[in-house]
Amino acid sequence: MGKRVLVVGSGGREHAIVDALSRSPQVEKIYCAPGNAGIALQAECVAIKDTDVESLKAFAIQTGIDLTVVGPEASLAVGVIDAFRAAGLKIFGHTKAATRIESSKEFAKQIMVRYDIPTATYEAFDNYEAAKAYVERTGVPTVLKYDGLAAGKGVVVAMTMEDADAALRDMLLDESFGRGRVVIEQYLEGPEFSLLCFVCGDKLYPMPMAQDHKRAYDGDKGPNTGGMGAYTCLPFITEEDHQYAMEKIMRPTAAAMIAEGCPLTGVLYGGLMKTKDGIKVIEFNARFGDPETEVVLPLISSDIYDIFEAVATGRQTSEPTWESLATLGIVLASKGYPGSYEKGYTIEGLEDVDGVVYHMGTAVKDDKIVTAGGRVMIVVCKAETLAAAHAKANSEVAKIKCDNLFYRTDIGHKAFK
Ligand code: AMP
Ligand code: GLY
Repeated sequence: MGKRVLVVGSGGREHAIVDALSRSPQVEKIYCAPGNAGIALQAECVAIKDTDVESLKAFAIQTGIDLTVVGPEASLAVGVIDAFRAAGLKIFGHTKAATRIESSKEFAKQIMVRYDIPTATYEAFDNYEAAKAYVERTGVPTVLKYDGLAAGKGVVVAMTMEDADAALRDMLLDESFGRGRVVIEQYLEGPEFSLLCFVCGDKLYPMPMAQDHKRAYDGDKGPNTGGMGAYTCLPFITEEDHQYAMEKIMRPTAAAMIAEGCPLTGVLYGGLMKTKDGIKVIEFNARFGDPETEVVLPLISSDIYDIFEAVATGRQTSEPTWESLATLGIVLASKGYPGSYEKGYTIEGLEDVDGVVYHMGTAVKDDKIVTAGGRVMIVVCKAETLAAAHAKANSEVAKIKCDNLFYRTDIGHKAFK
């Protein structure tokens, strides 16, 4: 009998996961909690919040779900994996303990130091005076990371002492920020890239590498966002670099997590930087990246259900296979994002796009797709070369008509230099 799958989450990442699952010959029915207007075209959306563990579990039991796949870190951090496993349900993603590789910056740094995984040097503080003295001693630029999940707002790259001081005050003196602990680390320079692997204990299955674009506007200008676009086929990362990253970073991290008693059973996302002193870890995430997933998963040519199920159950399986094409994705965001923005604008022209459109923040109003989030959708095109994927994605994204969206036209620019 065909498999019933539940995907947890509601963004472009989850839309890409649903889309990849819909190509699996084993999968009969896909549910998504809570999903979005685009996901609803490919899966049955259920109105359960992605952190409502008890309701998700009850739904999976009642519906006879064979496998659940979790997208967001927030769901992992509240222990959805632990709860499902305790109930004997199959689920893909890391336990709460393993998710600390993302949810606690300090835990991640301790693992890297203990197991000799290359990263920026650091010290952690909960006292403002001590932190300030450390920054005065080590100088700027410096990087301040709030210890805990901070929805992408927890990292400040301070170029001046004034910026560093303001950030330390926010993180250590302003109680609204939470517990108040900060990791201060050495500033590194070099191109960044994301290496995502499916990981089950000591078994790793790498995905094609990708590069995200965090800044809002062309030329890497403007504020940091959740990601304005991404692409695969990075010309500045060699096969040797990939091997180094796998052997010195990804595998040792998986082994370290086993040794620490919290083996990985989901996606390990290495946010890496190629510095002049070698490849180093900027951060780890315990989940699929967004928007990296939207450019990576369209390339999978083997059955993604098989790899999800193998990781969830500890079964050995064959390496997933990938099309050797370039993909490039351009995010359409609401004007004003990442600051405040309006919602409810009608989006037209979607049926004219020759490429994949994954919805990130949309809703349906009067039978029309409307904007409902900061990042609204991503247009992804595949081609033989990155230059062709860039040209195609730019011409396809222009077909989408909406009064309140903007996008970058230079996604992939670092590859064209
Ligand atoms: P993170 O949330 O840790 O990925 O940090 C967000 C961004 O801050 C990264 O994508 C980098 O561009 C930058 N960043 C983080 N750590 C460092 C570092 N040690 N040196 C330079 N830039 C960094
Ligand atoms: N693309 C960055 C992230 O998923 O955290």
